[in-house]
Amino acid sequence: MPQDEDLPQGEDKAIIVERMFDQIAPRYDLVNRLMTFRMDVGWRRRTVRDLALTPGSTVLDLACGTGDFCNDLLRFELNPIGMDFSAGMLAAAGTDAPLVRADALQLPVPSAHVDGVTCGFALRNFKDLTAFFHEVSRVVRPGGRIGLLDVGQPSNPFLRWGHSVYFGTVVPKIGALLSDPSAYRYLPKSVDYLPPSEEILAELQKVGFTDAIRVPLSGGITQLFLGTQVTHN
Ligand SMILES: C[S@@+](CC[C@H](N)C(=O)[O-])C[C@H]1O[C@@H](n2cnc3c(N)ncnc32)[C@H](O)[C@@H]1O
Repeated sequence: MPQDEDLPQGEDKAIIVERMFDQIAPRYDLVNRLMTFRMDVGWRRRTVRDLALTPGSTVLDLACGTGDFCNDLLRFELNPIGMDFSAGMLAAAGTDAPLVRADALQLPVPSAHVDGVTCGFALRNFKDLTAFFHEVSRVVRPGGRIGLLDVGQPSNPFLRWGHSVYFGTVVPKIGALLSDPSAYRYLPKSVDYLPPSEEILAELQKVGFTDAIRVPLSGGITQLFLGTQVTHN
């Protein structure tokens, strides 16, 4: 658990995160594209491709934000439903997919109901990651697939150093110039919430995604967790 006092826990965290995304929603897409040099677009498409679901499958995009993942799911002829708890992010969304305001930790969805789940760059924002994995496992049908993206740590020391300088120094400056300074100071710090990837994999396997794997993307600055619902809880 992170010790930094700027990193809230529990219900405080949920309230602060929701408020922060409401605030930065209008310029979220612009800052995202700039700070990732548009690589985020490729990471989401790779995720949807690796889900390998048949056209027409229903996929929940959890913490959907402004709907980028939903648009990629539509491109692959899947049926996305986006869910996010930030009314601001949903209002700024540009997608034809249906969107629902909901907490990803308490989904308004029956058990074993969907063919897949995607989630982009939100794992570190949840107040309880284990509860999230249980909820994902509950709603995905046996044989269904998950693709979860979040930031990562490159294993190459030189790349890790360059990335930490970029993420810790340049990204907050871009954010401060174009959006809300405190939100983009929080962003690099929020990486401390993310458990080591082996722990994430172990948790996914425990809740039923027994074949879960981690795929490092772009030298490991982003990581993708893929899995198939093998058992059902
Ligand atoms: C960094 S943004 C990512 C948005 C989008 N998935 C993307 O790939 O660009 C994180 C999103 O997670 C949402 N979020 C955080 N905690 C949530 C929760 N408990 N339930 C639903 N949405 C949540 C925020 O509102 C925000 O839209």
